Amino acid sequence: MIAIAIDGPGGAGKSTMARALAKELGYIYVDTGALYRAIGLYMRRKGIPTTDFAAVAGNLGGVEVRLAFRDGEQRVFLAEEDVSDAIRTQDISIAASNVSAVPEVRAFLFDLQRDLAKKNHVVMDGRDIGTVVLPNAQVKIFLTASPEERAQRRYLELREKGLEAEYDQVLTELKQRDYDDSHRAVAPLVPAEDAIMVDSTGLTREQAFQRLLRTVQDKI
Ligand code: C5P
Repeated sequence: MIAIAIDGPGGAGKSTMARALAKELGYIYVDTGALYRAIGLYMRRKGIPTTDFAAVAGNLGGVEVRLAFRDGEQRVFLAEEDVSDAIRTQDISIAASNVSAVPEVRAFLFDLQRDLAKKNHVVMDGRDIGTVVLPNAQVKIFLTASPEERAQRRYLELREKGLEAEYDQVLTELKQRDYDDSHRAVAPLVPAEDAIMVDSTGLTREQAFQRLLRTVQDKI
C-alpha cells in the first residue's frame, strides 16, 4: 500500500491539497483532524473541560468514533450520528487542539489511523502522520504558509459557510493553536526528518497543487 503523509499547521491548505491529490491518484483521503475534533465535540457535549487531561482520558471509554468513505469523501461519526459538519466550528477547533494533547487520546486514535493505511492507498493529513502514525510513508510533505495568509483563508472559509468570524480573532486563535500544537509533550507538530517542505504562501490553489503533485510523482 502507498501512503502519502501531509502534515503542517492549521489553515496551510492541507485538507484541500490532500483531497485533490487523493482524487488525482485514486487513493482515499483521510482527514485525521476530524477524529480529534469529534472527540472535542463529544467532551464539549458532556460538559467535560477539555483542558482537564484526566477528565478527558477518563471519559474516552464512551467515545465511539469512526470514519466512513463514500465516493472517496470522508464522513466522521460519533456512534450513529454523522458529525462531519458539527465539528467545523472555531469552538471545536480549540476543543480538538486541547484533547489532542492528551496522550490517551492519541493512543486511542492510533490503531484506527494505522489500519486505514494498511488496507488502502491513502493520502492522510494531520500533525504527526509522517513522524508518528505512518513513519514509513513513501512520501512525507510538510505544508506551511504564513500565519496571516492561513488566518485569511480560514476567515474566508468560515464566512463562506455563513459562520460569524473576525479576522483578528481567527489570527490570534490560529497563532495560539500553532503554539500549543508545536509545544505539547506528545507528538508535537514538527516536520519529519525526511519530510519535503512546501510553503504555499503566495501560491494559488492550482500552483500549490501542481507543486505537490510533482513532488509526489517524483517519489512514487
Ligand atoms: O486539522 P484540524 O484543524 O482539523 O485539526 C484539529 C486539531 O487536532 C489540531 O489543532 C491539532 O491539535 C489536532 N490534530 C492532531 N494530530 C493530527 C490531526 C489533528 O493533534 N494528526
